[in-house]
Amino acid sequence: MSSSLEEDRRSIREVDDKILRLIKYRLELAKKIGKRKKERDLSTVDLRVEKNVIEEALRLGKEIGLNEEFTEKVMNLLISESLRAQGRLAQGRSGYLYGMFERVQELESQGEKVVKLNVGEPDFQCLPTVKTAAREALGEDKDIKYVSAAGIKELRESIANMIRQKHGLKINPNQVLVTLGGKFAVFSGILASVSELSRVLLIEPYWPVYEECALLAKTRIDYVHTVLENDWRIDFQKIEEAFDAGTKLMILCNPSNPTGKIIPKEELEEIVQLANKRNVTILSDEVYDAYAFSPFTSVLDTACDNFIYVNSFSKKYGMTGWRVGYAISSPQTILRMQKIMQISATCVPEFVQMAAIKALTIDEKTVATFSETMRRRVGIACDALRGLPLAFKKPDGGMYVFPEANYEDFNSNDFALKLLSTQKVAVAPGEAFGDYPRCFRISLGTSEENIKIGIERIGKMLEKWKG
Ligand SMILES: Cc1ncc(COP(=O)(O)O)c(C=O)c1O
Repeated sequence: MSSSLEEDRRSIREVDDKILRLIKYRLELAKKIGKRKKERDLSTVDLRVEKNVIEEALRLGKEIGLNEEFTEKVMNLLISESLRAQGRLAQGRSGYLYGMFERVQELESQGEKVVKLNVGEPDFQCLPTVKTAAREALGEDKDIKYVSAAGIKELRESIANMIRQKHGLKINPNQVLVTLGGKFAVFSGILASVSELSRVLLIEPYWPVYEECALLAKTRIDYVHTVLENDWRIDFQKIEEAFDAGTKLMILCNPSNPTGKIIPKEELEEIVQLANKRNVTILSDEVYDAYAFSPFTSVLDTACDNFIYVNSFSKKYGMTGWRVGYAISSPQTILRMQKIMQISATCVPEFVQMAAIKALTIDEKTVATFSETMRRRVGIACDALRGLPLAFKKPDGGMYVFPEANYEDFNSNDFALKLLSTQKVAVAPGEAFGDYPRCFRISLGTSEENIKIGIERIGKMLEKWKG
């Protein structure tokens, strides 16, 4: 008995030996293929080829009696490792964004005055009534304690009511999670939806936080690249190719940071249809919906089967520092996200939630003044940019312009660093948002005067750049 057990164990070690040697051989082959692709100037990632490889493996798996999910996991792992061997796995790009932030802080601490067109923070003040609500909630004798990780009942109900009124969608409070800003809704939404061997789809250019969260979840990331020449339009065929390869979660930023693009209604509906067909969940980050200058359609206005809707009090009510946002999804997904809240931040402080309830009572006309200010700034920025050797699309919404320089050898990171050191103007380099070395992002979260001064100095820097 014991000798046959030993024999079986030895056999397993022999099988492991064979598997590992074969994997090594597969990686060597992948490297060779990578080299050949480079010589022929072909892209490393080819989702159609990947789809065929996975399909063939699934067929074989079925034939020999392997669990389908297991086969898919193994194939995703092998493909990801092959891409790593070819030097094509995402590294994360938030360093470009937050690195610039740190540099500006450093310069300011040395007494320099910087025109900050890099940060995604509007200079709007929240209304005094919101602060009063927080003060009252703090009270003299009130104990400030933990509250539910999902958010207090009154705020979840207020959010559900607001959504019902705005989108005509019946939402139960157990479909709402109160989060530490929209950022935590994005973070917990991604971590609750994907596992190590599933796939997330990002539309380039993207807010780098999405990629970093997906990297943290160790999930495979696929990208659909969009370009200015095509009006930042999303190619449906590319989405289908990615879905064919097994996308689990697709992330949309609407209106977009950094391009300001709003996805037209018909296009959003088409994307939703594709996602429904393939059981793909759409995480729709709509934190900039309060600044929409063209008709805007939310994922909540579509027939999307599986969604995680993200919004925040930061931009709409000038409450960035309060750290309060929310997610809406199915009760099951909300429970998974709530767990992430429980084991990390515990809860959003109660007095902040009380202030958020007050913010929701502010009438739309008052809130619209922020949007009007942003629209005016977009106009001013675009007028100023028109005289420069830059191409850009006027934003439909949001608080950024994402121009592209008309120079062949333009490198936006070098440009942003020189602009900061010589002109004392900070912008975010295009590399922060994907493969966009000729673009940079200008934030309009500052005064009209700063925007004009900043763009004038960008013009000077561009002249010097040309030499
Ligand atoms: C696209 C996008 N989503 C979400 C957020 C999160 O904002 P907050 O966490 O302040 O709500 C930001 C902030 O800049 C953003 O740009």
